[in-house]
Amino acid sequence: MTLAQRPPLGWNSWNYGLNEQNRADFSRLTEKTMLAQAQAMVDSGMLAAGYEYFVLDDGYQNARRDFKGRLQGHALRFRHGIPQLVNDVKALGLKFGIYSVPGSLTCAQQYDDYIADGLGSLNREEIDAKAFAEWGIDYLKYDWCRAHLNDGLAARDAFKKMADELRASGRDIVYSISEYGLFEPHKWAPEFTNLWRTTDDLFADWGSLMSTLDQQVDLYPYSRPGAWNDPDMLQIGNGELTQSENKAHFFLWAVLNAPLMAGNDLTRMSDEVRDLLIHPGVIEIDQDWSGEQGRLTWQSGDLQVWTKRMSTESGGGVAAVLLNRGGVRGSFNLEESVGEFNSAVDVWSSDLISASGQIEVEPRGAHLIRFN
Ligand code: GLA
Repeated sequence: MTLAQRPPLGWNSWNYGLNEQNRADFSRLTEKTMLAQAQAMVDSGMLAAGYEYFVLDDGYQNARRDFKGRLQGHALRFRHGIPQLVNDVKALGLKFGIYSVPGSLTCAQQYDDYIADGLGSLNREEIDAKAFAEWGIDYLKYDWCRAHLNDGLAARDAFKKMADELRASGRDIVYSISEYGLFEPHKWAPEFTNLWRTTDDLFADWGSLMSTLDQQVDLYPYSRPGAWNDPDMLQIGNGELTQSENKAHFFLWAVLNAPLMAGNDLTRMSDEVRDLLIHPGVIEIDQDWSGEQGRLTWQSGDLQVWTKRMSTESGGGVAAVLLNRGGVRGSFNLEESVGEFNSAVDVWSSDLISASGQIEVEPRGAHLIRFN
């Protein structure tokens, strides 16, 4: 598979569409708001920084399919139809991603009383894959939503079916699956998907971030170019996350070689959130592949070090996140927590760090350092 040779970067509408109670608010999902977000991806410098996929998640669908059995956009919120939106977004230089599910019900249909039938791709895999290809779709997020309970499906088979239909469609479509790590996806998804969610939904708070991180510890051997562990989309700029927490989130996702899918309101983001999302030094680490994603290499109490080897093309050495999970300042002794090195640079501040260094990290924060 030649797609997604590096972790995909983009923006996805799901986190943007959640309200303060983390409930989906579909009034936020209209062709007008989506075009404004896509435009902001370009204007903010995100596209130039590498964020190329614009992904329309659950909630865009009309309650009924069209006369040919194809999915269509909600009649009032997407008046000009999805194919038109795809064209408009792609005219900005972006690629377009869309959402569907292997079963009969999408997640939002189940949890938010969004009553409609036949929105899922069950028994319509071919129709849907062909329509996506015709519309010029570049990325599909295919989301489980309890299809084992609702429809009696087996995950591997159901996800494979859509992989086969996407291939048969003749179009290169990045295939992103999401079953929240329920059925050990790392053991089978690398064969026919480009990324698989490893864990349940990530919310915009520190507790969710840390528990999601804890569940990544043993998964590092399964990622490789074309097939990535996906610890879920970014919550940077959402909820109550502070800038220090946002930075820790971004640094950690980068050493994990995670797909970076922003989900904040790009039309209203602060300069500090934008500067974080487009930081070239952090993105370089995320996109670098030296044979293994980063992993947990040291811990003591609330302090952890997550380390990723860097390829020679990117200057070699290692990138390490010094993470302080706790509520008080933490002090890292570099010799003890990282080992010997010749030089060290803080990726965020570009400051040189002395070899005998002791590094102080703020509560619920992290520093990202390149060691050679
Ligand atoms: C699940 C997924 C989310 C999002 C919603 C859509 O919760 O994990 O990322 O796609 O469904 O309903």
